[in-house]
Amino acid sequence: MRKLCVIPGDGIGVDVTPVAVAALRILLPDLQVVEAQAGWGCFVEHGCAVPERTLELMRDCGAGLFGAVQSPAHAVPGYRSAILTLRQQLDLSVNLRPVRSWPGISPRPGVDLLILRENSEGLYIGREHMASPDQAIAERQISRQACETLAQRAAEVARQRRSKRITLVHKANVLPLTCGLFRDTCRAVLEEQGLGEQVDERLVDVAALQLVEQPQNFDLLVTTNLFGDILSDLASYWSGGLATAPSLNWGKGIALAEPVHGSAPDIAGSGRANPIAALLSAALLLRHHWQLEEEATCLESAVERFLNDAQGLDHGTQTTERVAQGVLTRLDLLHR
Ligand code: NAD
Ligand code: IPM
Ligand code: MN
Repeated sequence: MRKLCVIPGDGIGVDVTPVAVAALRILLPDLQVVEAQAGWGCFVEHGCAVPERTLELMRDCGAGLFGAVQSPAHAVPGYRSAILTLRQQLDLSVNLRPVRSWPGISPRPGVDLLILRENSEGLYIGREHMASPDQAIAERQISRQACETLAQRAAEVARQRRSKRITLVHKANVLPLTCGLFRDTCRAVLEEQGLGEQVDERLVDVAALQLVEQPQNFDLLVTTNLFGDILSDLASYWSGGLATAPSLNWGKGIALAEPVHGSAPDIAGSGRANPIAALLSAALLLRHHWQLEEEATCLESAVERFLNDAQGLDHGTQTTERVAQGVLTRLDLLHR
């Protein structure tokens, strides 16, 4: 029996996760759902952002759905963003972030790209120190093993998507050791997998410009942690913004779906959070973790039909409830 660990977290995470769970329950009536705690609220209440029990439940279920966490912008002793701890502790070493045009809400049709982001290292290892009162230093780690895992996932996804082009995004002109190791290792793995002909590369600054100018020319982008974080927010513009951007934290035999957006404190509790990113994240869990392509497509089609019928989203009047009802009723009909 399939199990799902739901971690609503903070802010609008609490509003959007129940909608994604409802969609999964329509598609998988036998799904066993457990809820776990994590985030800033959990830290304030229990002194721990990711309790051991949450990690145990995630390991036991093998699949999770995360809402969002809030983090203070200043350092708080003992606190680290819960999502970073979950990625690290559960070996969720790759992050999959697709971006595609949706009817009514995308600024342009024809965009269909996927960013594969390294999810465990780079500048995210959190090794910063003050070399002197006037100098802060951050370390960036790139390891062959992590790049190999990323490139193997890229090969897997490239075949599924029938990708024509795989673009390695780096900054090896300035960081020849870290970015050089990233590029060369990814290239070697992709060549070994018979995909060498399709591999292309871009410096991250040019990639950012081209994602703005010609997003339809990209297919599969493979990049390091921080570059992937930034480029995925930028690229989400083409799908209709952050509220429609899904992701999957992807490990071996374990995965945690996560909308790209944060806890949105400006609208939390107002009933206006858009659940589409959470719904599409659940679709990624279906497709890539449970290998349920038909169910994943069904959920995406329900979202597409809703957006088509609604002629886009009215950000003034849209409510979580209305979008949820619109998508779930269509999903019900499609799945029958
Ligand atoms: P955010 O993504 O929370 O919000 C950015 C803007 O987008 C806000 O105006 C918000 O209202 C809007 N928005 C985001 N998701 C939406 C949705 N589903 N429906 C409607 N509008 C939506 O980013 P932020 O304001 O920079 O960060 C807020 C907090 O979230 C910070 O503490 C940050 O650290 C955290 N954060 C967490 C995650 C995560 O948990 N994965 C990701 C990014 C930021
Ligand atoms: C994301 C978020 C996280 C990240 C934050 C909340 C630590 O922005 O999932 O994109 O930087 O990876
Ligand atoms: Mn981000």
